[in-house]
Amino acid sequence: MTLSANSDTFAPRILTWFATHGRHDLPWQQHQTDTPNPYIVWLSEVMLQQTQVTTVIPYFTRFMSSFPTVQDLARADWDDVAEHWAGLGYYARARNLHKGAGQLVAVIEETNDFPQTVDGWQAISGVGQSTAGAIVAMGLHGYGVICDGNVKRVLTRWAGIDGDITKSATNKQLWALATSLTPKTDSGHYAQAMMDMGATLCTRRNPDCERCPVQTDCMAYAEGRPEFYPVKAKKKPKPSKFSDALLLKNPEGETLWLQRPDSGIWGGLWCLPLAFRQKTQGKKVLATHQDDNVYEQEYTLAEQVIEGWLTQNDIDCIATSNSLLDDDPIKHTLTHFHWYLQAKTATLTDAQVSELSKALDDAGAVYQWLDEAAALAGLGVPKAMGKVLEV
Ligand code: ADE
Repeated sequence: MTLSANSDTFAPRILTWFATHGRHDLPWQQHQTDTPNPYIVWLSEVMLQQTQVTTVIPYFTRFMSSFPTVQDLARADWDDVAEHWAGLGYYARARNLHKGAGQLVAVIEETNDFPQTVDGWQAISGVGQSTAGAIVAMGLHGYGVICDGNVKRVLTRWAGIDGDITKSATNKQLWALATSLTPKTDSGHYAQAMMDMGATLCTRRNPDCERCPVQTDCMAYAEGRPEFYPVKAKKKPKPSKFSDALLLKNPEGETLWLQRPDSGIWGGLWCLPLAFRQKTQGKKVLATHQDDNVYEQEYTLAEQVIEGWLTQNDIDCIATSNSLLDDDPIKHTLTHFHWYLQAKTATLTDAQVSELSKALDDAGAVYQWLDEAAALAGLGVPKAMGKVLEV
């Protein structure tokens, strides 16, 4: 790609626009502080990876008040971290954050400071190349390049890059362009400015080209088709999984909750036991619960023990539904599949509760019998469970 003469003025135009039209009041912004705090930038960037600013703000504020330093976060119990994250989604981020806090404390103990380079930050769990660039640029006021989804959208449009952005060749081209356009000084201001460009002007739909500081030499604008960019290969439709969400109650009305294993979906969070029913893609059935050899990573050992025990004891769980809602079961969309959850309930006798608890103990499961309010208030529970309980 040949860079036009306008490349030299790209960053200055973006920075001038940012000074008057950018966002300067986000709680994590460190670009204009004299002593930037990389912990704040790391935490906020991880929270912002797949989540919008308005959703992140209350979570960020609560995290900072409970874990004001990286040492506080490293020392915290996982259950406490999970409870603070519950509802934000993509829980691997929370696990990486907790693990990353431990790694950062080790670096600080050895060097007396946070990592100072992009490579040093990329060695921390959950920190990719763009996040590492953002932390160095905004959290250390060093030189760091960002090339996240927002930046890719701005750059593909401006430079008219029509390669598939999911392909590594296009990605390489975009990183090279991002690097060549990033100013050697003030890269923190520039990073914030590019994020704001992508979030407020150069949006996916209906970009506001009339207010854009780089409109005069934007290829997509000249072509009259900004929304054509970025070009992204269509993904196959996500598979759908159907499971029953079991509300198994003891005679006191308390419900059985399981802590899921660390790996896999909702790792480390507390969930109702889910009983796998089937998995489909479009109309095609990929697996049913009768398939002997289906082992789903998300179908935990404890859940299999429960399902086996219920079958053995001939206990029927009855579907609960709210007649005002016609969209039973609830639908919850995750990165790799849609999960349809049908709430079902059964009340067990004291003898059955002891028997099932023993089977779970034997399987090494982590579980509790809790009333609903206690579960929702005190544990890290994914949003989907809240939806199931509302049914
Ligand atoms: N998205 C990713 N990082 C961000 C930041 N620092 N400010 C606003 N939006 C963002």
